[in-house]
Amino acid sequence: MKRWRIWRAEPADEDDLVRIEAAAFGEKSWGENNVRESFVAPRVTILLAAPRQRMVQTLGAGSNQPPVGFAMWRDLGPEAEILTVGVIPEAARKGAGTELLSACLEGAKMRGANKVYLEVDQGNKAALALYGRAGFQQISVRRAYYRNGADAVVMECAL
Ligand SMILES: CC(C)(COP(=O)(O)OP(=O)(O)OC[C@H]1O[C@@H](n2cnc3c(N)ncnc32)[C@H](O)[C@@H]1OP(=O)(O)O)[C@@H](O)C(=O)NCCC(=O)NCCS
Repeated sequence: MKRWRIWRAEPADEDDLVRIEAAAFGEKSWGENNVRESFVAPRVTILLAAPRQRMVQTLGAGSNQPPVGFAMWRDLGPEAEILTVGVIPEAARKGAGTELLSACLEGAKMRGANKVYLEVDQGNKAALALYGRAGFQQISVRRAYYRNGADAVVMECAL
């Protein structure tokens, strides 16, 4: 059995999404309003991840676990785009990011995509490792892509 329960976020999950995004991204958060708006963004799927029962003790909390990770991807027909993945620090390094990413790729494939793209800050070693392990390869670099002047690595994964 997979260690994480993954589901498609519904309007009732909006507050959880805001909480997780803020905790995962800290000062790089999109901000509450932008996160809430992503619920109505066209072609965007939001997934959430919560630990299954046997993970509960590891994370030191009770039952009925709230979600601790999220991912967003956009359906662009023959292509798809991973918009973001985030896991709260307390739940990091336990496989949630990997399972969320894998669920995005599965969803994109089911909708007919054969290529998936994403952009990631060149200095974000955790994300680069996560995406690399999932089969993404660097195809280009966008110089000074982010507001703070950091470069973005563009990655591609063939499905
Ligand atoms: C990137 C992120 C989503 C990873 O989530 P996660 O649930 O911790 O990832 P996983 O446990 O599935 O890790 C998978 C692999 O990614 C790599 N990885 C994850 N975190 C890492 C870190 N801090 N440093 C180096 N490699 C890391 C490792 O190879 C890891 O495998 P391992 O634990 O067996 O060595 C999480 O660190 C995060 O939310 N970061 C802040 C937000 C962000 O930058 N998101 C991505 C940009 S859109």
